[in-house]
Amino acid sequence: MTEQHPSRMGHPPDFVTEPSTAPIYQTTAFDVPDLKVLADIYSGNVTGHVYTRDSNPNHAALSDSIAAMEGAEAGCVFSSGMGAIAAVSMHLAGSGDHIIVAKSLYGITLKLIGRLHQKFGVHVSYVDAGDSESIKAALQSSTKMCLVETISNPLLEVTDIRMVADTLGDVPLVVDSTFTTPELIRPIEHGATIVVHSASKYLNGHGDVMLGVAAGTIRRMKSVRSTASAFGQNGNPFESWLTQRGLKTLPLRMKQICNTTTRLAEFLQGHAGTRHVFHPSLPEHGTHRLATELYPNGTGGIISFCLAADGKEGVSKFMQAAENIPFSPTLADPRTTLSHPATTSHAFMSRQDRASIGITDELVRLSVGLESFEVLRDELGEALSKI
Ligand SMILES: Cc1ncc(COP(=O)(O)O)c(C=O)c1O
Repeated sequence: MTEQHPSRMGHPPDFVTEPSTAPIYQTTAFDVPDLKVLADIYSGNVTGHVYTRDSNPNHAALSDSIAAMEGAEAGCVFSSGMGAIAAVSMHLAGSGDHIIVAKSLYGITLKLIGRLHQKFGVHVSYVDAGDSESIKAALQSSTKMCLVETISNPLLEVTDIRMVADTLGDVPLVVDSTFTTPELIRPIEHGATIVVHSASKYLNGHGDVMLGVAAGTIRRMKSVRSTASAFGQNGNPFESWLTQRGLKTLPLRMKQICNTTTRLAEFLQGHAGTRHVFHPSLPEHGTHRLATELYPNGTGGIISFCLAADGKEGVSKFMQAAENIPFSPTLADPRTTLSHPATTSHAFMSRQDRASIGITDELVRLSVGLESFEVLRDELGEALSKI
């Protein structure tokens, strides 16, 4: 056996072939040959990595993939979807600035915006993202950002990204495309400045990752990455690698999920156990027409519905009856899962505030997975009939 220097222990012997799949660079730091190379890396003259909080080959691989899929110049990886939204918001707005946000945003995003206001003095206007007049009325000379979702969580309101971008003029538009992924829409092509995702959801698609991503111009992503590093919001190499693997099956998964979801929405709407079903594929949905224009390949895998049975008790009974559909407060798992916005994502709000944005105790959110339509129809139909 040849002698190995202790600093090389754990490194494989050199070999002449390339791994077919990128390795996981599970390392805190990188050994840098000298100060000249360090300076060249920092100035961007050569490609290199120094410290994983700043950058790592697995971040770079995933960032490049997301940028290519979104039609953006560059991407960035974060510790979670919230990490992505926080870093992008802090890049764009600071103390004394004003931002505009859709009032229909995911509950924890609303919580984050509330904190930006209370702790950092960012002024906020909450608007109906479908109403250009209310966006126009909210605009101020100090407005630094507008934040919307492609399709809102949990009531599935489709945003007309082009209309919002046109109304904002030069104000940067940040679009959370977690529900839709670049398989269904590429927000930058519609006028968005930065697109963000919870990669914990469809991009990874296997329910085993907590990660966020963003895409935009090289200049903006460089600044966002630097903010994320300073605030410790960086993603880790293994989860970046897992998400990269998940992306390989994204087109197939989204196709199947959209197909099953559209059929299930129709089924649930016709069932006596539901009172109101929210899915943009349904002609009765407020943003159905917009959905057919913007989303020719489907509107994703989330359906929300109000049970005909009253209150949280009815919800609990339904969840127990749907034995093979777990109550799991996430979405985009390969398994179909159920969640209850009033006691999870929107639990921090008062009952009245929730009701004002349409989130009642009877509202259940279904994340459709990879099972067949027939299996899910039978399971949901039976559970609804029992309550
Ligand atoms: C639309 C949307 N944006 C952002 C997030 C936050 O992502 P994460 O849980 O990865 O922090 C979620 C989480 O459910 C979400 O649904």
